[in-house]
Formats: sequence, structure tokens, C-alpha cells
Amino acid sequence: MKILITGGAGFIGSHVVRLFVNKYPEYQIYNLDVLTYAGNLENLKDIENEDNYHFLKADINDANKINSLFSEYKFDKVIHLAAESHVDRSITDPLAFVKTNVIGTMNLLNAAKKYWPKGFDKNLFYHISTDEVYGTLGETGLFTETTSYDPNSPYSASKASSDHFVRAYGETYDLPYIITNCSNNYGPNQFPEKLIPLFINNIIENKKLPVYGDGKYTRDWLYVIDHAIAIDLAFHQGENKSTYNIGGFNEWQNIDLVKLLCKIMDEKLGRYRGESEKLITYIKDRPGHDKRYAIDASKIKKELGWKPTVTFEEGLEKTIDWYLENELWLNNITSGDYQYYYKDQYQ
Ligand code: NAD
Ligand code: TYD
Repeated sequence: MKILITGGAGFIGSHVVRLFVNKYPEYQIYNLDVLTYAGNLENLKDIENEDNYHFLKADINDANKINSLFSEYKFDKVIHLAAESHVDRSITDPLAFVKTNVIGTMNLLNAAKKYWPKGFDKNLFYHISTDEVYGTLGETGLFTETTSYDPNSPYSASKASSDHFVRAYGETYDLPYIITNCSNNYGPNQFPEKLIPLFINNIIENKKLPVYGDGKYTRDWLYVIDHAIAIDLAFHQGENKSTYNIGGFNEWQNIDLVKLLCKIMDEKLGRYRGESEKLITYIKDRPGHDKRYAIDASKIKKELGWKPTVTFEEGLEKTIDWYLENELWLNNITSGDYQYYYKDQYQ
């Protein structure tokens, strides 16, 4: 089986590529990535020489290139993760999100429709999406697979649009598909623009911890390796033309999470208790900030037998240890352009 994984040099994609390359030596894995600021081949150093791993540098916005790769390599299945993924960047530059997340997904769908043999017997278009397409929740309730889409940010609107196109290609052209909508991922290799790695990096550097608004926003956190395991299950056993929600059964208000992070970091760095918390600084809120996300992951649990393997405390500790042990990875990313991004976003 030849599997095209897009965005495999990014955070979640690299964990999915690693799992598939190691677990399925009989599959050929093609990692297609244009290597934006978020793409980093260092994430895949340990598997880059495996016989069943191949890297294709290409832009999903380039329809001709995508068509020629489908024609040349004859992929059987696609796992599509390539995207612009950060809400704050979508507020600054929404069009970039329409281009990659909507048009890029369309280019892949069109190539699949054009080059896959009629009947699509061996084929699957697996689209990775987010719980943010469902909008925001009040104090109670959970997102289920039947919750209406109600996106609020340019990022979530672009992901919602791509989800609709995937479903539409399933209905209109009978293209086999699966969509999974997951909650906030955390773990090794995440670019330090998202809350957890940004704050780990700032604590190491003794920089302020910029908490948006009152800090009482709630997210459901999913360890990235548990997500990769869920993707493996849905890819192999998921029902054609269906959607699965993936979450960590793990809701945290931002401020409580940040305080826990500070406590663990104080212990790891040999600082006195409460030292890192002093870095917390409340700043102007994110426009259109969704109050609460919470996933009901009971469908994938019941139908495919998936459940998280680590508690949040275990996952957070593994994550912190990884960042402390991979200082070079972090330094390479946070030098250069990252400094301009940080200055524009926070100062
Ligand atoms: P990421 O930003 O870490 O990585 C994205 C990858 O896509 C990078 O390697 C980048 O180089 C590549 N890419 C971007 N534009 C491209 C293009 N035009 N052509 C080819 N490659 C391109 O993202 P992530 O956090 O790993 O997210 C992966 C997927 O999961 C995305 O579709 C995202 O919407 C979804 N998702 C992420 C989260 C999360 O918490 N990180 C939660 C829910 C859903
Ligand atoms: P983030 O990691 O950007 O994920 P998302 O917006 O996709 O949920 O943010 C997680 C939460 O943390 C969200 O409520 C916004 C908040 N946040 C801050 O308070 N400060 C920050 O600097 C960042 C990046 C996020």
C-alpha cells in the first residue's frame, strides 16, 4: 500500500509518519510537505533512512505538481494533515488559511478523483480536522459528531470549509473518506507558538507568560501520540464516509493549566516553588476567542476501542522532559524569524 501523508514534517504529522513507518514496514509512506515555518525534517531524523519512508517536497497549493505526483507515484490512500494551523496567525493573515486549508485540500481531492481508478476500491481520503469547526460551548455540553458547524476564527472557518468539501466529494463522486475532528494536541515537537510549548520555552528563558483575557478559557487536551494511535485505528477500521471526534476527556481552564505547568517546571529547573508563576502576565484578549471546547469522544471509544493511554500529568511531564532534553531543536526554531513573529504578536 502506498500512503501519501501530507504535512508529515509538522507536529502531529511527524508522529503519524513515525508510527506508520515503524508499525507497517510493508507500507510505503510518502511524506509530502512544503516545509513552512512549522515544517521541520529534524522531527523525523530517527526514521529518515528507513526503506519504506520517502520525502516529497511540494506545495499542496500547486495543483499541477500535486497532479503529477499522483500520476507518478500512484498513491492508494491519503492522510491529509498539511495546513496552516495557528489561530493567531489566521487573524493576521486569513487569506493564507483559505489558500492552504481550502484550495490545498481541493487540489488533493481533485487529484484523488482524477487519478484513482473508478470505483475507488482500494482508496481512502482521510482528512484531519479540528473541534474548532463546532464553534464555542458555554459552561456545559460537549461537541459530538452531529453538532452543527459554527466556526468563529478564520482558521476554524477554513477547516470547516475543507471538511465540507471532503464530505461533498464523498456524496457527489463517491470518494471514500473519513474525517476526524480532534481537540488541542500537545506533546514533543510542537512549534512554540501554541500555548504549551510557548510557555515552556518562555519559562526556560524567564520571559513573561502572556495569558489572553481572564485566562478562564477552557480547552480539552490530547497527547499527540494518543492522537496518532487514534488516527491509525480510524484509518484501518473506521467506517467509510464517517466522522469521529477525538479528545482527551481532559478539560482545563488555561490559567489552571499554566499554573500546573509552572509548578512542574519549577521542580525540573530546581527553582523555588512559585518562581515561574510570577511570570504570568494577563494581556489583551484574542479577538473572537472561543470560550470553551470539549469533545465527546465516546463514538471512537465505543466503535474502535480507542482511549487515551496517558493522564494529562504524565503527558505534560513527558512533554516538558522532551523540551528540556531537546534544547538544540528549540534553539534552532526560536532563533531567526520566530523572533519577528514573537515581537509582532506580543509586543
Ligand atoms: P503544524 O502547523 O505543526 O504542521 C503543519 C505542516 O503542514 C507543516 O509541516 C507545514 O510545513 C505543512 N504545510 C503547511 N502548508 C503546506 C502546503 N501549502 N503544502 C504542503 N505542506 C504544507 O500543524 P499540526 O499542529 O501538526 O496540525 C496538523 C493538522 O491537524 C492540521 O490539519 C490541523 O488543522 C489539525 N489539528 C491540529 C490540532 C493541534 O492542536 N495542533 C488540533 C486539531 C486539528
Ligand atoms: P492555542 O495553543 O493557540 O490553541 P487554540 O487557540 O487552537 O485553542 O491556545 C490555547 C488556549 O491558550 C487558547 O484559549 C488561547 C490561549 N493562549 C494564551 O492565553 N496565550 C497565548 O500566548 C497563546 C498562544 C494561547
